[in-house]
Amino acid sequence: MRIVEPTAASIEEAARLLHEGGVVAFPTETVYGLGGDATNEHAVAAIFEAKGRPKFNPLIAHVPGAREAQRFVQWSNAADRLAAKFWPGPLTFVLPRAERSPIALLATAGLATVAIRAPSHPVAQALIRAADLPIAAPSANRSGSVSPTRADHVAESLGERVPLILDGGSCPVGVESTVLDLTGETPVLLRPGGATHEAIQAVIGPVALSAALPTGSAARSSPGQLESHYAPSRPVRLEATSVSPDEGLLAFGPYPPAGARMTSNLSPTGNLAEAAANLFAQMRALDRPGIGRIAVMPIPQTGLGLAINDRLRRAAADDGAKRRG
Ligand code: TXA
Ligand code: MG
Repeated sequence: MRIVEPTAASIEEAARLLHEGGVVAFPTETVYGLGGDATNEHAVAAIFEAKGRPKFNPLIAHVPGAREAQRFVQWSNAADRLAAKFWPGPLTFVLPRAERSPIALLATAGLATVAIRAPSHPVAQALIRAADLPIAAPSANRSGSVSPTRADHVAESLGERVPLILDGGSCPVGVESTVLDLTGETPVLLRPGGATHEAIQAVIGPVALSAALPTGSAARSSPGQLESHYAPSRPVRLEATSVSPDEGLLAFGPYPPAGARMTSNLSPTGNLAEAAANLFAQMRALDRPGIGRIAVMPIPQTGLGLAINDRLRRAAADDGAKRRG
């Protein structure tokens, strides 16, 4: 495995690997992706294999922009308005598969829909354009673990399972894209992420939160949201307003409680964008010997707070599973 600076030559090399059916890790504005040719069943199978990901959980296809997306999905008026505002950027649309869409069936787990987004990171854009392919890319970590926001996180998580990592530094947004289902009458937010619920509603009006839908509306759910995810190896305790000496504290705001073994502050000024950008790296930094548990201060449930709290709840929910082994 090699970690390389993104240059014209290394991006060409990565594009060649993609054409040969290989996988490559690359930076996006949200998290690092593990990319493969979305039209090649073997390449897509190699992604699932490297991640240890269950095959019922479909992947996002990455394209340069709205024009290219229309080859792969049945575009809609809402998609058009949202793309004008958010693309390239951290918003993924779930839309019906286009007729004769070349996206591999394995990439969409056999669903009649495709998740698609145009990332804004210049290295992601350069790679997609150099390869001239839609790139299927989940987050570049082993399935269920904390998402990578730096090249060294990818190396630590995937090791020799990935031959080449393009190092674009830290991902500026820090949480994954918002996944928005546009297939029904009312748009449904399947996964909160880098584009906020409020900002999306400002463009297209009411958007339902899938978490708020009655159970049984499985057709509008995101398969990947069924699993526990984003889990460090230590237990996570939420809504902490005090700490014990064996805990590592993930703090937020100017007044963290004293007494933790170690404290890492997501944003001393209480800024949610800064907190999102720091979230996964700080969770990893606290997940270390000498710390018995990770305590997390309350984070406001507005704007990017929805995405941050979603990831934290999933990290905390995995504790039972880990103790059971
Ligand atoms: O920011 C991101 O979205 C990152 C970067 C690399 O682009 N990618 C990412 O991919 O987070 P992944 O595979 O970790 O998450 C994709 C999510 C999963 O929850 C999956 O279930 C959902 O999108 N998804 C994919 N295709 C879908 C579909 N056809 N219908 C509903 N949900 C879908
Ligand atoms: Mg992921």
